[in-house]
Amino acid sequence: MSVPESIARRAAELREQINYHNYRYYVLDQPEIPDAEYDRLMRELQRLESQYPELITPDSPTQRVGAKPAEGFGEVRHLIPMLSLENCFSEDELRSFDRRVKERLGRTGAVRYCAEPKFDGLAVSLRYEQGYLVMGATRGDGYVGEDVTQNVRTVRSIPLRLRGESPPSVFEARGEIFMPKAGFEILNRKLAARGEKTFVNPRNAAAGSLRQLDPAVTASRPLAFYAYGWGEYQGIELPEFHSEMLEQMRQWGFPVSHEVKVVQGIEGCLAYYMDMEKRRPELPFEIDGVVFKVDSLAQQEILGMTSRAPRWAIAHKFPAQEEMTRLLDVEWQVGRTGALTPVARLEPVFVGGVTVSNATLHNMDEIERKDIRIGDTVVVRRAGDVIPEIVAVVKQRRPADARKIELPKKCPVCGSDVVRGEGEAIARCSGGLYCPAQRKGSILHFASRRAMNIEGLGEKLVDQLVEKGWVEHVDDLYRLTASQLAKLDRMGPKSAANLIESIERSKNTTMPRFLFALGIREIGEATAKLLAEHFGTLEALEKAALEDLKTEKDTSLKPEQRYPRLQAVPDIGPAAATHICHFFSQDRNRQIIANLLNVGVHWPPVKAKREGPLTGKTYVLTGALDHWTRDEAKAALESLGAHVSESVSKKTTAVIMGKDPGSKLDKARQLGVPILDEAAFETLVKGT
Ligand code: IVH
Repeated sequence: MSVPESIARRAAELREQINYHNYRYYVLDQPEIPDAEYDRLMRELQRLESQYPELITPDSPTQRVGAKPAEGFGEVRHLIPMLSLENCFSEDELRSFDRRVKERLGRTGAVRYCAEPKFDGLAVSLRYEQGYLVMGATRGDGYVGEDVTQNVRTVRSIPLRLRGESPPSVFEARGEIFMPKAGFEILNRKLAARGEKTFVNPRNAAAGSLRQLDPAVTASRPLAFYAYGWGEYQGIELPEFHSEMLEQMRQWGFPVSHEVKVVQGIEGCLAYYMDMEKRRPELPFEIDGVVFKVDSLAQQEILGMTSRAPRWAIAHKFPAQEEMTRLLDVEWQVGRTGALTPVARLEPVFVGGVTVSNATLHNMDEIERKDIRIGDTVVVRRAGDVIPEIVAVVKQRRPADARKIELPKKCPVCGSDVVRGEGEAIARCSGGLYCPAQRKGSILHFASRRAMNIEGLGEKLVDQLVEKGWVEHVDDLYRLTASQLAKLDRMGPKSAANLIESIERSKNTTMPRFLFALGIREIGEATAKLLAEHFGTLEALEKAALEDLKTEKDTSLKPEQRYPRLQAVPDIGPAAATHICHFFSQDRNRQIIANLLNVGVHWPPVKAKREGPLTGKTYVLTGALDHWTRDEAKAALESLGAHVSESVSKKTTAVIMGKDPGSKLDKARQLGVPILDEAAFETLVKGT
């Protein structure tokens, strides 16, 4: 059966269009059409090709996933070796590199460098003949790598055919395959949900995904590629500068990072390093340093290379974010809600720029999933300002006497029973306010800046107040006297008087602050504000809570039908409603509130929530918008009466998506919540 000409033309046109949109999306970062439109083009092409298989060309965008090789990967010899880079870790070392370069070039002026991120993935070489991708290979030992052609074809940002009229007859692009942070998080969540092993970091995930024998598995992994160099080439002239060649490669359709910059001299290099280090946490992909390359290709030629690495380039690495150390012991901390958190005591180790001797272990499930034991050698990670955590155990180094970690049966602080609800990750001390740890935690929370804001009431003081029995509940704070406080450690008459004054000042508060200060579980600042706006007074809230309590045991109702008065508030679901009801049902809590009001805690009447066209609607923001800061977008929505929430639920009206959206986007897709882009958001706030 021959293919009708009109169909052949349409197929060619679709291929052309899809390749063009891939280029807009992956190389220029400027998609022109929505994903749905792209999918439609793709489906149309797939349909034509399945009707007329003779239409299929090797560069067709439908042909990314090929068959599995019968045996392992074949070998590929790199005609031009894939070299490695010399590393340095300090300004001094970088300065001596620059000095050596200048000496060898015999010049005194500033050298022009091309500054690039050091992508944390794995190096690949992509060979194109007559413009078509014919081979993808790993670096291997630099001379011989593995043939991963079928797998690299599945990476959507890698062009299957070069753009432009006269592509080089032979061209090897070199660069890094990596997994963007967001994709890594999603992949690990999926793997964990299926009970499969998760990856320790995006680099391992990228390597593990690329080296899959089944290209269909690779295709399902969110891999990306950036080009940073080249190998063999025929049929082209090189330009004067490395950076120009990268620009040429971008025109052929290779993604080149927009973080690549030309800088002048050592000062330019140092500024680039500092800027990238600062922005590292917000980049959508992992980098472990920056790379400086002498930009002039003629100068590169003069400098030459050693057997291992070029003399014209150097990697300036960031301090490692992961290190190995030993887990000495596990201690259990009790928080204000009684939650027991395991804290790892570590042999001190320098990681992420600081010495770390504690790390969080989150909860028992996490410990079991990672199979962490006392005595183990563990990988500790500290990224940016994030709390250090244990990412993995080095099983090969497990000593014979490694001990399993067990959840204590009794609270380490007060000795009450520890309970862990069916299927719950978190175990809690059942001692309630009898437990000094919970009492201290709830007092500290009450006094914290965003709650009652009692300046100067810190951890050390609260410890003493509770241990002396002076403060049992938060209302006791208002009965303290200056002469009493002056007797405490490190307290003079002056600081005692100051503290009394800030306690006094805290009486003048707002209803949302007061509700938040009570420390009801799952009632954060935002929810406290909504409750205050909805009910207006404490009496009304209490009344609603007590009425709603009656629906709790009604098994004829679904959870979302229970607590109707509380669940009428945006953001409040069955779990938060239960906590509110229980809180107000306890005589003890109502007594503490009465005491607080009696000693003079008060607030101005609550302003009714602004009514507007979006009243009753709830939005969630994720990712960065181009023209609005997060606060501006929030204020714009709120001024129209909308509520802006931090988390996506079935009640969310829509999710507003900017660049690099987080897991909220997945959640919205899962729940079928509508997703708005920046343009749609602007229509919403400007048009309504
Ligand atoms: S250039 C001849 N540029 O770092 C120079 N490498 O430590 C070859 N890498 O194997 C490498 N980002 O996997 C170069 N912008 C960059 C890079 C980069 C990451 C990796 C690459 C290489 C390793 C060497």
